[in-house]
Amino acid sequence: MTRARCIGILTSGGDCPGLNAAIRGVAKPALSDFHIEVIGIEKGFRGLVENHSRVLHPHDVSGILSLGGTILGTSREKPHKMPLPNGETVDLTARAVETYSRLGLDCLVCLGGNGTHKVAFNLMKHGLNVIGLPKTIDNDLAETDMTFGHDSAVTTAAEAIDRLYSTAEAHLRVMVIELMGHNAGWLTLSAGLAGGADIILIPEIPYDLESICQHLIERRRRGKWFSIVAVAEGARLKRPGMKSAEDAAAGAALASALTKEEFKKEKKKDKKRKKDKKQKTSADGLSDVLDDMGDGRASSSVAKAISKRLGMETRVTVLGHLQRGGLPTPFDRILATRFGTHAAEMLSEGVYNRMVCLHGSEVTSVPLEQIAGKVKLVPPDHPLITAARRVGTNFGD
Ligand code: F6P
Repeated sequence: MTRARCIGILTSGGDCPGLNAAIRGVAKPALSDFHIEVIGIEKGFRGLVENHSRVLHPHDVSGILSLGGTILGTSREKPHKMPLPNGETVDLTARAVETYSRLGLDCLVCLGGNGTHKVAFNLMKHGLNVIGLPKTIDNDLAETDMTFGHDSAVTTAAEAIDRLYSTAEAHLRVMVIELMGHNAGWLTLSAGLAGGADIILIPEIPYDLESICQHLIERRRRGKWFSIVAVAEGARLKRPGMKSAEDAAAGAALASALTKEEFKKEKKKDKKRKKDKKQKTSADGLSDVLDDMGDGRASSSVAKAISKRLGMETRVTVLGHLQRGGLPTPFDRILATRFGTHAAEMLSEGVYNRMVCLHGSEVTSVPLEQIAGKVKLVPPDHPLITAARRVGTNFGD
């Protein structure tokens, strides 16, 4: 492959702290050491389809190391599924390819998560040279031990748990905090462990309400009348007959959280709640809907079950996008800089169609086909889970 002389760089998918550090990490050495022209593509892949781009000069990437968000803007749109005003989608991959040629790019550097890397792989199949940089607060990209953005989100979430701790203790309440992470539990697991959550619920280990209540009862017996429950947004209830990954591995039969009768009743109630919520939304606009315990969130149903079954006072905090905002931690600044500068070295050597990644403490890269379409979930025997269990954390299983 020939070394790059002109590259495009874009940020796609949900933003996270460290994107600007990574842009800087790519652009600074590209411009000064390797004399590569750098074109910033704005608003993610939409910018590639519509050719929203600008040449990046050294001053554009200076002073942005600690800045949250992304100087290029981002979007979740994909060239092969661009939304139309009527709600339908259209495949505009050809336009993206056209922009790449018109700008005279030798490679497109894509900073993103799973969706972004799928698109990058697709563009590669259309003849583009691409390099991926793994970013997401979720840390759910395959073939990398860590994505940048994750550590910052863990830091924010752990601090939020610390803050909940004192008010939980003051009021003797069960504080339920819902964290992001999409379908993976990395963020909740790390933040929960760092914040000393008493119960951690992640999608990889379906939870059982009885196990949670039992754990809270045991804590009360030990004089602890308050608790912190960290719930991942993707956490799910163990259904009758459902096996957790761990139990499935062990081949053990599971006792269900609810009897079939209870389960049916819950389902019926859930249906009614959803219907009521719909009516409420259309009648009052969106106000108050999120205070309703029937909002469909795992955190709400866990809190409700605890107060109903144990008569304990509960409160729910949904941390939401606070986890994505703000300054990157030093760890993320360093990781993003290492990823970015590694990508610049690859560009200078003409090494394309790979995702930069972290293996142990080494920054390296893997072929895109090795990661496209894969998700990295928390293995049930992960050392973080083992450590948490050792200090008495309950996983609702
Ligand atoms: O992938 C990052 C993430 O923050 C997930 O944790 C979350 O599920 C999702 O994005 C939220 O997306 P949006 O910002 O589009 O609501």
